[in-house]
Amino acid sequence: MSNQVTLITGGASGIGKAVALKLAAQGINVVISGRRDDVGQAALREIAAVAHSGAQARFLRNDVTDETAVKDMVAQVVNEFGRLDMAVNNAGISNEISTIDQSNTDNFRAMLDTNVLGVYFCMKYEIQQMLKQGGGSIVNLASIAGLNGIPWAGAYAATKHAVVGLTKSSALDHAAQGVRINGVAPGATKTDIIAKQLDGSDPNYNEANISAMHPMNRLGKPEEIADAICWLLSPASSYVTGHILNVDGGFQAK
Ligand code: NAI
Repeated sequence: MSNQVTLITGGASGIGKAVALKLAAQGINVVISGRRDDVGQAALREIAAVAHSGAQARFLRNDVTDETAVKDMVAQVVNEFGRLDMAVNNAGISNEISTIDQSNTDNFRAMLDTNVLGVYFCMKYEIQQMLKQGGGSIVNLASIAGLNGIPWAGAYAATKHAVVGLTKSSALDHAAQGVRINGVAPGATKTDIIAKQLDGSDPNYNEANISAMHPMNRLGKPEEIADAICWLLSPASSYVTGHILNVDGGFQAK
C-alpha cells in the first residue's frame, strides 16, 4: 500500500488522528483536514515523527459543510499525489445531550450539516475520483447511535443513521466498479467529543455510567477504532463492502 494516499477528514484529533498515525507508520501518504491551522499543524508534526518509508503527511484547512471547499480539497489531493486511494469520512460533531422535546433546532441543523451533508459531500467527490482511477476504499464514521436508539441523543442518532444509509446504498451503487464503501460503528470512545460531554455539567452523565452501557464496562481507545478502520481501508478486506463494523466493547451484542 506504499505510494498510496488517504484523505482523513477531521484527522487532527481523536479517531482520525489515530488512523493517520497508523497509516503513516505503514508508509502510506496521509492528508488530514480540519478547520484549525494550529491544531492541524500540531497533528502533522506527530504524524511526520512516525512516518515510515518516505510517507508524506499534509494538512488541508477545510470545513466539510462547504461543498465547494470539499470539491477543491479532493482536487488538491489529486493535484499533489496524482490519485486518491482511500478516504475516511470522520469529521463529526455531537453538540447536545437532550431529549427531542427540549432540544435546540439549531444544534440539530449543525449536526445535519457536518455529520450528514459533510459525509455526503466528501463521498460525492471521493467516489468521482475513485471511479476515474478504477477503484478505492472509503470508510465512514457511523456510531452505535447509527444502529440503535440512544437516550438523550436522538438528534445525533438521526445523523448517524443517515451515515449508515449513505454507506450501504453507495456501496451497492459502486460494488461492481472497484469502489468499496464501509462504515465503522464505535461505542463511546475516549476523545474530545466525549470529553466535552463528560465535563461534569450533568451529574447523570459520567464515565462510569457511559462505560456501564458497554459489556466491556469501559470506553474505547481511539487506536482500537483506528485498527478496524485501517483493516476496512486495506486490501485485507477486499471482499467486504456495505458493512458497518461494530467496534463497541460488545454493545451491539446485547
Ligand atoms: P473529535 O472531536 O476528536 O474528532 C472530530 C474531528 O472532526 C475534530 O478534529 C473536529 O475538529 C473535526 N470537525 C468537526 N466539524 C468539522 C467540520 N465541519 N469540518 C472539518 N472538520 C470538522 O472526536 P472523535 O471521537 O475522534 O470523532 C470522530 C468521529 O467518530 C465523529 O464522526 C464521531 O461522531 C464519531 N464517533 C465518535 C464516538 C466517540 O465516542 N468518540 C463514538 C461513535 C462515533
